[in-house]
Amino acid sequence: MKLSGKTALVTGAGSRMGRAIAKLFAEEGARVVAVDMNGDSVEAVASEIKASGREAVGVAGNVTKQEDILVNNAGIMDKQEAGGVIINNASVGGLFGTRGGASYVASKHALIGLTKNIAATYGTFNKIRANAIAPGGLNTTPRRAS
Ligand SMILES: NC(=O)c1ccc[n+]([C@@H]2O[C@H](COP(=O)([O-])OP(=O)(O)OC[C@H]3O[C@@H](n4cnc5c(N)ncnc54)[C@H](O)[C@@H]3O)[C@@H](O)[C@H]2O)c1
Repeated sequence: MKLSGKTALVTGAGSRMGRAIAKLFAEEGARVVAVDMNGDSVEAVASEIKASGREAVGVAGNVTKQEDILVNNAGIMDKQEAGGVIINNASVGGLFGTRGGASYVASKHALIGLTKNIAATYGTFNKIRANAIAPGGLNTTPRRAS
């Protein structure tokens, strides 16, 4: 229960890595807000988590749509207790580059740069930790039960 008492907002949580992350975080005790543009799949993930006795809310939302808005509203003065963790899912394509997917590779490089900037700017002073993970190609096909 490493994440007991914490709340995690996971985007792309309707399938594959996002689904696995949402479920693992819930197993570790986090309350999970699962967001995906596929409302049915993210509802299913939230239901699976709740069926296992953990807390989750499924929210339909498209992170690229101007109509869908993420409001980072909570603000704190410099001397107040702060904290929080940002985990950006980058890719080895963002570290070394890969063939094809020029905008994908460029955006993953940018995401790693943004993560470093957030960590450097807010890490010490506001205690907001920012990290990126950089997976290689994963087989995210669910295993069949034998
Ligand atoms: N799968 C891999 O091999 C691999 C390797 C390196 C990095 N990554 C990175 O990991 C992350 C997850 O990849 P994945 O392959 O598990 O899943 P994915 O990229 O196929 O997407 C998973 C979920 O995201 C949702 N989604 C897609 N666009 C969305 C949007 N605009 N708004 C809200 N939800 C949206 C989809 O409905 C789906 O349920 C991505 O950032 C990807 O670049 C994946």
